[in-house]
Order: sequence, then C-alpha cells, then structure tokens
Amino acid sequence: MKVLVLGGAGYIGSHTVKALCEENIDVVVADNLVTGHIEAVDSRAKFYKGDIRDINFLDDLFSKEKIDAVIHFAAYSLVGESVTDPLKYYDNNLCGTKVLLESMVKNNVDKIVFSSTAATYGEPENIPILESDRTEPTNPYGETKLSMEKMFKWTANAHGLRFVSLRYFNACGADESGKIGEAHNPETHLIPIILQVPNGQREFVSIFGNDYPTKDGTCIRDYIHVTDLAQAHILAVKYLMNGGNSDIFNLGNGVGFSVREVIETARKVTGHPIPVKDVERRAGDPAQLIASSEKAKKVLGWKPEHDSLEEIIASAWNWHKNHPNGYTH
Ligand code: UFG
Repeated sequence: MKVLVLGGAGYIGSHTVKALCEENIDVVVADNLVTGHIEAVDSRAKFYKGDIRDINFLDDLFSKEKIDAVIHFAAYSLVGESVTDPLKYYDNNLCGTKVLLESMVKNNVDKIVFSSTAATYGEPENIPILESDRTEPTNPYGETKLSMEKMFKWTANAHGLRFVSLRYFNACGADESGKIGEAHNPETHLIPIILQVPNGQREFVSIFGNDYPTKDGTCIRDYIHVTDLAQAHILAVKYLMNGGNSDIFNLGNGVGFSVREVIETARKVTGHPIPVKDVERRAGDPAQLIASSEKAKKVLGWKPEHDSLEEIIASAWNWHKNHPNGYTH
C-alpha cells in the first residue's frame, strides 16, 4: 500500500508519516514548506516539494507514484489569522482542496482521509459533542474546514470517491523520541505557550478569561495526544482500503481540562512555578469543548493510549526543552 501525505511536514502530518513508516507502509510526502519543516519528515518517506493548488504538480505526482490513498493535512490552521485574513484561508484550504480533488478524480485516486477540526461545531449544543450535532463555525478557519468536508461529500457522490473526515479536538504532545514535535510560528496553542515559561522565553502565561461558566472560570478543552491522532489516520486509511463508507469521526479523549488545570499539571511536570496573569477573554473561544469519540472507537477500532494529561505534557516538555526554537536551532 502506498499513501500520499499532503502537508506531511507539519505537526500532525509529521507524526502520522512516522507512524505510517513504522508500519512499513510506503509513504510519499508532499508539502510546500510554508508552515511545515523538512526536518520533521521521516527519512524513510519520499518527499516532493510543491503546492496543492498547483494542478501540474499533483498530476505529475499521481502519474509518477501509484497512490492507493491520500491523507490531507495541507491547510492553514490559525483561528485568529483566519478572522483577519479570511481569503488566505479560502484560497489555501478550499481552493487547494478543489484542485486536489480535481487531480484525484482525473488520476483515479479514490480514497482520502482528511484533517478536520472541532472548530466545525462552533459553540457546542451538547457536551460531549457528537458528530451529528449542529455545525455552525464561529471563524473562517472552521468554516473552510466544514466546506472542505462538504466538497468531499458531493465529489464522493458524483465520482465514486470515499473519504473519512477526522475532527480533532485539541492536538498536543510530541513523539516519544523527542525528535519531532509542535513548532508553529507564531505559536498560539496553550501547552507550547505554557512551556515557554520554564524554557525562559516568556515570563508568565496569560489566562484568557476567568469568568466562563466552568468549575474554575477558565475554558475547558479535550486534549488529545498527537500520537493517538496519528494512529487514527492509519486506521482510517485501512478502513477505506477495506471498503468502508465515507464518514466523519470526532477524535478526543472525552475528558475536559480547564486552562488552570493544564497550567497546574505543567508546573508538576517541569518543576517550575509558571506565573500567570488573568486577562480578557479571547474572542470566539467556546467555554467547553469535549468530544464523544465513541463512533471512532466502534467503527475504526481507535483506542487512544495517552490519555493522561501529565504524560501528554511530559512528552511536549521533552520536545520543547531540547528544541526551544522548534526546528530552527
Ligand atoms: N489559552 C490561554 N492562554 C494562552 C493560549 C490559550 O488562556 O496563551 C486558552 C484559550 O483561550 C483556550 C485554551 O487555552 O481556552 C486552548 O487554546 P488553544 O489556542 O490551545 O486551542 P483552541 O481550543 O483555541 O483551539 C483548538 C485547535 C484549533 C481548533 C479549535 C476549535 O487548536 O485548531 O480548538 O475551537 F480550531
């Protein structure tokens, strides 16, 4: 089996590439390296530098490599940036996916696993969130991901393609080797930001809002280890290879932690006091996001293994303390 990973040099992509290589699956990676890092790509994978909006690049790749299934991570993913520059998100995320599907149809590649997000739900109607719940994104990032899902659905109907969309909750942690991990610029995610304090790069963590209707007033999220996400992609590819129907799955641990609890756990892991400052709410943050992943467990046989927040933060710390500047040092 040969799998093409688009965006395989990014955070979740690079962990998935490594997991695929470890299962001796043939892996081809394509990435434009705008936000991805070539150092993150497993040396066992074959690498092509290129952009999914370039139909000639994709047609050429599909004609050179006999691809059985595609895993699609190639998208922009900063919520705040998507609000200030929505067209950048429509261009890369939506137009890119349109070109990709055009090339897949032309080249008879009919299976795709797609990186979606809890941001497709917007403000949740129920906790835990089910795949069948209302989807009303509150930012262009979530909106483009939801539109991508719909583009897959209609293209699948028309051209006999099958897709799996994986809606991740809060991806975090790093590979146990300590060689790959999260490296965004700018960094906006809570755990890497917290770890900048013990790393001497930041004096305190700003807590965005302390008056949410939650146990300690701070937002609650479902933190899911990137290695568990990587495994879900492999299971989804196998599901499609075995004839599975197109479907959408949530991926989370089903347990919520508040911002204060995450900081407290990071203090325990790093031994650093990690000072905090309570500041205003960040626009667009729902109070609580917790997944029901029962469907992924039942249909894909997914079983997240790293469900302890302490273990998740310890793995992230193992990466960040040795790579304070990501891949650039
Ligand atoms: N937070 C802080 N201080 C910080 C950074 C974050 O208090 O310096 C808080 C946020 O307000 C939020 C929580 O920590 O309550 C987690 O924030 P992240 O930015 O780490 O993650 P989000 O929950 O905002 O985002 C995640 C994914 C997105 C996805 C979104 C769905 O990373 O891709 O969930 O809402 F779109």
